Amino acid sequence: MARTDTDVLVIGGGIIGLGVAWRAAQRGLAVTVADPDPGHGAAQVAAGMLAPVTELQYGEEPLLRLGMASNERYAAFAAELSEVTGLDTGYRQTGTLAVALDSDDREELRELHSFHQRLGLESHWLTGRECRRLEPMLAPGVRGGLQVTGDHQVDGRRLTAALVAACERAGVDLHRAEVTELLVEAGRAAGVRLSGGEILRAERIVLAAGSRSHLLPGLPEGVLPAIRPVKGQVLRLRIPEQYAPFLSRNVRAVVRGQHIYLVPRADGELVIGATTEEQGYDTTVTAGGVYELLRDAHELVPGLTELPLVETNAGLRPGSPDNAPLLGPTALPDLIAATGHYRNGVLLTPVTADLLAEYLATGATPELAAPFSPSRFGSKVPA
Ligand code: GLY
Repeated sequence: MARTDTDVLVIGGGIIGLGVAWRAAQRGLAVTVADPDPGHGAAQVAAGMLAPVTELQYGEEPLLRLGMASNERYAAFAAELSEVTGLDTGYRQTGTLAVALDSDDREELRELHSFHQRLGLESHWLTGRECRRLEPMLAPGVRGGLQVTGDHQVDGRRLTAALVAACERAGVDLHRAEVTELLVEAGRAAGVRLSGGEILRAERIVLAAGSRSHLLPGLPEGVLPAIRPVKGQVLRLRIPEQYAPFLSRNVRAVVRGQHIYLVPRADGELVIGATTEEQGYDTTVTAGGVYELLRDAHELVPGLTELPLVETNAGLRPGSPDNAPLLGPTALPDLIAATGHYRNGVLLTPVTADLLAEYLATGATPELAAPFSPSRFGSKVPA
């Protein structure tokens, strides 16, 4: 009898787990994904901005390298997914305009621009008038902005639907069940128990359960740091045909210290995001959250109050202690992490999938993944 049921078992069928499963199956590995509802993670809520440059934070240069590497792979990743599934992913090379509404914001953006220039990133300073020439719906008071031509967008919902279909076509076994326990035998991750009691054994297990990754029953203490759920409330508006093109690119700003972004899709959807709230596993949409998003978005683009509001929802970003992802082997042999992507899960899907598949196929950690080793938090080998 075989020692295992599958080469690779992926716990969690969100965008990251599906991406890893697809790429691993393409490397010839037998792959199973365990998730009660594959495709229904935080990417269902995300706006899908691919923004390694406009979301750059000081001190996060290794993350920038990873984000840029993923951004560079996106066009080919999306095209390959469309080719194998016949599904559109909503990938759009729009670029992004980050604008300032007052002189403090303008100074902050100028600082960001200098930082971009020091790092050799593509980013152009525009006057308020030049910003409005690009995006006539912007408020007349816009004081200047940064045009970042390489920060694009994808539709997280279409992308996950395409990943589910691509996994099925590549022979990935989508096991629609909840993992209730990680089984550790002889000091290694050996399998999982599923709701209903079934046991699945695997050579290697990839933990890609987003903000619930560290809560997996049976996971020995100290193997993974706690992942924080960081709630983001998001609105979806519809741009009627007579208003199109309402916006031609992603538009973002900092309003009263809060980041706001507007992502216009080719199909007429306008996504407005997002709040940043740390209050546990709560995905309630609140009146205050919706009010703040609409208030700030209205300051940026006053005409949007005319648009139909079609959806409000909230998702949980998986935040690691340093807000960078955990990629690669953990201190528990045969348990591999692909989690903690925080604000960048959609952006980092192609590179995470490639790096994890490379590790699973060869046993060697790719150089790009090295700074994101789960062991950087001092995880212990369980006794
Ligand atoms: N990357 C956008 C967000 O997390 O809100």
